[in-house]
Amino acid sequence: MNKRRKVILKELGLTPLWKIKHVKQFPSAQAVTTQASKVIQPVAIQQMGWAQLNAKVTNCMACPLSQTRTQTVFGVGDKHADWLCVGEGPGAREDALGEPFVGPAGKLLDNMLAAIGLSRGQHVYITNIVKCRPPNNRNPNNDEAQQCEPYLTRQIALVKPKLIIALGKIAAQNLLGRDDSISRLRGTCHAYQGIPVIVTYHPAYLLRALPEKEKAWEDLCFAQATMQSLP
Ligand code: URA
Repeated sequence: MNKRRKVILKELGLTPLWKIKHVKQFPSAQAVTTQASKVIQPVAIQQMGWAQLNAKVTNCMACPLSQTRTQTVFGVGDKHADWLCVGEGPGAREDALGEPFVGPAGKLLDNMLAAIGLSRGQHVYITNIVKCRPPNNRNPNNDEAQQCEPYLTRQIALVKPKLIIALGKIAAQNLLGRDDSISRLRGTCHAYQGIPVIVTYHPAYLLRALPEKEKAWEDLCFAQATMQSLP
């Protein structure tokens, strides 16, 4: 800068003069996101306790469902349950109340559990594949389910259930990584990371297809027999 310019700036009160430092090049936003989601984030989630995990889910903005939810729906029940029920995602009432399966399908689920001597507060934990409501109660898509998967994986690791009941096609397909229809998946004991998984109909479907309740009852008896056969 020449002398004259320095004098003028000084007279105008524009001193001391600040120089722009050389700015270190950071990785692009894309690279940071990729690193965070592929390495840092999942590892951190898999080390979280309940409170941290709940807070992480509450603040999650990983997929577009976060834009339309009222609140996240984390899960409910016994944190050391032998039984874990997994549904697909919150509906309107769940989104409003912050608890899974609180609408008519939830009432039926409670009755199904009661039929095998269980209740949501004791020995049972209930959660969903995705923690935010898909608009208009549509099925969560693959990307939404994948973004939410580390949360469910951590919940399962913390609960350490002896048996998982997959409620409906979406829960079953995502837990088992399979594309098959529910009728193909029912009646077999599958596994999720070594934990037995029994597939049954979603309670909301059973409310529309009452004759299928008999099959759901068979599934529950199968689940109970499987549980009793475990060491
Ligand atoms: N249906 C689900 O799959 N989950 C809920 O929490 C409510 C309805």
